[in-house]
Amino acid sequence: MAKEIVLTGITTSGTPHLGNYVGAVRPAIEASLEENNESYFFLADYHALIKCQDPERVKSSRKEIAATWLACGLDPEKVCFYRQSDIPEIAELNWLLTCVTAKGLMNRAHAYKGAVDVNVNNEQDADLGITMGLFCYPVLMSADILAFNANKVPVGRDQIQHIEMARDIAGRLNHLYGKQLVLPEAIVDKSETALLKGLDGRKMSKSYNNTIPLFETEKKLKKAINKINTNLLEPGEAKDPNDSTVFDIYRAFATAEQTAEMHQKFLDGIAWGEAKKELFNLVNEELGDAREKYNALMAAPHDVEEILQAGAAKARTRAQSIVTPLRESMGLVSFS
Ligand code: TRP
Repeated sequence: MAKEIVLTGITTSGTPHLGNYVGAVRPAIEASLEENNESYFFLADYHALIKCQDPERVKSSRKEIAATWLACGLDPEKVCFYRQSDIPEIAELNWLLTCVTAKGLMNRAHAYKGAVDVNVNNEQDADLGITMGLFCYPVLMSADILAFNANKVPVGRDQIQHIEMARDIAGRLNHLYGKQLVLPEAIVDKSETALLKGLDGRKMSKSYNNTIPLFETEKKLKKAINKINTNLLEPGEAKDPNDSTVFDIYRAFATAEQTAEMHQKFLDGIAWGEAKKELFNLVNEELGDAREKYNALMAAPHDVEEILQAGAAKARTRAQSIVTPLRESMGLVSFS
C-alpha cells in the first residue's frame, strides 16, 4: 500500500509553550512513528513574516522551534523536517496558485475577515494595517501542502477553512490544466486534552499571556504552575476536578490510572499547593530529558542547520517532481 503523505507546518512566531507541546508537538511526533505514514514537518517561516516584522524575533523563534521539535523526539531519519523558506518550489507554486485563485475566495478567509471587522468596529479604514501577505495567507498555505501532494494535514480547528481553500484551489487548477494535484484532507485532533487551558483557565495562548513555558528552567516551570488560578477552597474541602485548570493540565500528562487517582484526591480535598506540587513533578518528569536535549541543541546551531539542510534537499526533490510538470502544463516550457 502506498504510504500516506502527512504534512504539517508550524508557524515560527513566539516561543513554544506547554499548550503547543500537548496540542501539536506530542501528537504529531507520535503520528510520525506510524509505519504507513510518510511525514513532512516544516517551519512556516514565510508565514511568520506576516505576523512578525522583527528580524531578531523571526530568527530566534525558528531556531527555538526547530530545537523544540528535535528535543521532543522528532526523528529526522523518519520525518522530512525543513524550513519553508529553503524550498523555492513553494514560492513558485504560490504564484501559480495565486493566478487561479478567486479573489472572492480570499475575501471569505476568517483571518482576513477578522482583521477587517476589528478595523470597522474601531471606525477605521477597513484595510488599515492589512498586508497582501495576510490577505493571501491561504494561497501560501495551499502551496505548502500541494507542492507535496499531501493526503493528510493535521491542524488545529481554526485552520480547517484553510485546508478547504487548498482543496478548492487544487480543484480549480486541476479543472483548468488537467488533474494533477491531490486534494488534501484536514485531520483535527478531537481528544479532550488537545486544547490545554492556560493559567487563567482560558485556552493557553501567547495572545492571552497565560502560558506555561516548555523549556525554561525547572524553577520557572514551578513558578508558572504555582500561578495557575484556583478557587479559595481550603485543604480538606472537596474540589471539582471538572472545573480545574490544575486537573486539566495534570490529565494531559498522566496515565489513565494516575488521572483516576488525582480525581479521587480532588474529591477528598487535596490542598491546592499539594496538587500543584504533584502537577509540577509529573510535567517535569516528562520534560526533563527533552529539556536537556533542547539546551544542547540550542548550544549547537550547526547541528540543527545540518539536519534542516538535509531535510530541505529531500523535500525539494519531491516538490520539484510535482511543481515542474505543473509549470509545463500551464505553458511555461522551453522553446526547443
Ligand atoms: N497556518 C498554520 C497555523 O497557523 C501553519 C501552517 C502554515 C500550516 N502552512 C501550513 C499547517 C501547511 C499545515 C499545512 O497553524
